[in-house]
Amino acid sequence: MSDVKNPIPQHVAIIMDGNGRWAKQRGLPRLAGHKAGTENLRRVIRAAKDIGIKYITFYAFSTENWNRPEAEVKGLMLLLSEFIDNETEALHKEGARLLHIGHLAGLGAALEAKVKRAIERTKNNRDITVLFAFNYGGRDEILHAVKNLIAEGVKPDEVTVEKMSAAMFTAGVPDPELVIRTSGELRTSNFLTWQTVYSEWAFPATLWPDFDGEALRALVEDYTHRERRFGGLGKSSC
Ligand code: IPE
Ligand code: IPE
Ligand code: MG
Repeated sequence: MSDVKNPIPQHVAIIMDGNGRWAKQRGLPRLAGHKAGTENLRRVIRAAKDIGIKYITFYAFSTENWNRPEAEVKGLMLLLSEFIDNETEALHKEGARLLHIGHLAGLGAALEAKVKRAIERTKNNRDITVLFAFNYGGRDEILHAVKNLIAEGVKPDEVTVEKMSAAMFTAGVPDPELVIRTSGELRTSNFLTWQTVYSEWAFPATLWPDFDGEALRALVEDYTHRERRFGGLGKSSC
């Protein structure tokens, strides 16, 4: 294999796609796919920590996912609630800090309070930071940031990339070096629009419930051999 060009990514972001197709292949209801997908989080988080990844973001519910049938939306909310009930302590023991990106207020008072408690419980952990994008949209986040800067009285010529980044839900979190979308779909679906301008992308065909630590390791390994140019001339062009 070619030379190592990049260290292990600090931040990997994952669009967890393919739960519905995974269920369909087995003749199961879509929610069974979402349940299997949720159960998969634990092993992928553990693998990420073992690899040395410091931040991992999971896209779990987009601002457009409200367009799904009400029963599926309710089921997804319940799975988030159960995940927090069942996994927060285990994640805390693993040294994981939980964060949320997106609009928590849209999830209802009980779920909002539950997510906030999990964030509070794990706030001092630093082995790995796990960001859940739930009720998240990239355009929505940019609008939210712009509105906040205007509300703070920031003048047009004072608006900078740094101030915009600091006004995002991801404030303080480095941009993801690697973004993975499972299930073979080739689009971003409104994910981390501001943060991914120079991310490396991977589109494995694997459906999310089947994606495991080995698959993550292989994509991280592949990433370390890629040449990132950021608009300049790479070493191989000189
Ligand atoms: C991803 O799986 C999970 C969410 C979007 C909530 P999908 O539900 O999109 O699965 P497919 O794309 O129908 O297979
Ligand atoms: C993107 O998947 C959102 C999440 C994985 C949470 P979708 O399945 O909703 O995306 P589209 O609609 O196929 O683009
Ligand atoms: Mg999908």
